[in-house]
Amino acid sequence: MAMDSLLHEGLSWLLPNLGLVVIALGLITAAAIPRVLTPKAATATATATETVNPPHENKNESESEIHPLLDFDVATRPPHPYRPWRSGKFAMTMGVSKVKPEEWLDLDNKYWQEQELRRQLLVESRPEVMQLLHGSEAACIEVLDTVVDYLTRRYPSLFYRPEGKDGYIYNGLTNLSFKITAPYELHPLEIAAQLVMEDLNLLVQGFGPEPDQYYLSASFSMAPAGWYLKERIGWPLWKIHGPVPLWEEKLRLSVERFFLRMKPGDIVMRQNFFLQTNNAMFQQEPFANSMLSAPKIEDIRIRHERQTLRRLPKTGAVLFTVRTYLTPVVDLQDEPDSIREFLGAVNALPESMAKYKGRDVWGEVVESWCKKQLEHTDTDSA
Ligand code: HEM
Repeated sequence: MAMDSLLHEGLSWLLPNLGLVVIALGLITAAAIPRVLTPKAATATATATETVNPPHENKNESESEIHPLLDFDVATRPPHPYRPWRSGKFAMTMGVSKVKPEEWLDLDNKYWQEQELRRQLLVESRPEVMQLLHGSEAACIEVLDTVVDYLTRRYPSLFYRPEGKDGYIYNGLTNLSFKITAPYELHPLEIAAQLVMEDLNLLVQGFGPEPDQYYLSASFSMAPAGWYLKERIGWPLWKIHGPVPLWEEKLRLSVERFFLRMKPGDIVMRQNFFLQTNNAMFQQEPFANSMLSAPKIEDIRIRHERQTLRRLPKTGAVLFTVRTYLTPVVDLQDEPDSIREFLGAVNALPESMAKYKGRDVWGEVVESWCKKQLEHTDTDSA
């Protein structure tokens, strides 16, 4: 993939042209959305003679149901204790479930630490964390607008438009303001990444040779789960998932159909987990290649992703958000039910998936710790 075609440093082109992009965005009709737009098609449909739909027209009723959390204290809120594993037979399914619009994104007390990492990576490893292909500009603006709309409605005391500073958003958690109208001072995806805790990936249909495929056309990824963004930008979903066992046989068809049918307004989520032997969020090297042998249980982390998918109504792009949580395995020690389910899930992985997730490295250590905890529980309750 020719990296020169990427726009990550390309604000020089983007900024002077954003006015045009915004006008084009406003003119794309809702009617065009079901036959999802390639960037070319998007420009072609944006003629001055078309009717402009009010922005709410693409939203279903539930989308406006975002109740403000007025006294939300991020500093005292620990990460949500998701436990996304189940014992029993392993099944390779999409595993998506609906999300209420008001529960789209999460905020918790890791915010400051992760925002600092984001800012540091943007300076020191920019092309590793942010990639933008030409033609994804309108969708990136729509991501920013969607994020701003959500945060200002859900957390109005933390994110708001400061008085006397038109066209800006104030992030009360970091005390930073960002210009959120053209001409932008930072790339819109970079701004969005400095508001939320999720990684942000944009997938656009036909953004490559295959018209029905969705291609990764822009991404901010602070927490890649063992993959290199610079390599995979511009790839279709099936190619991105090349290293994932059983993807081709069990998931490819259903995911591809699902993407073609997603409606604006619907939000779904799925969760997964990996194990790793360090505390790194920014993990590009595949897990199985990068783990130390015979790790100590105290060093093993469960890396859990809460992913959401939604179609953006104006551009038709699909936004894939990924929030990553690192939980030390030993933190489960007071949760015998979770330990039981976790051990069951780990042991039920088919061989190919176990190898992909590096079970040969951490498996024995994890199993013996889990069993010991469960023995204690059984003794205590006897
Ligand atoms: C319904 C949609 C999707 C499903 C069902 C799905 C499923 C999976 C599965 C099963 C894995 C293996 C790890 C695991 O979750 O246990 C995986 C890994 C991955 N997925 Fe997805 N995925 C979906 C959407 C996406 C999207 C939109 C992206 C775009 C960035 C993406 C990027 C990745 C990457 C980069 C990996 C790591 C691959 C590797 O190990 O090299 N996924 N996905």
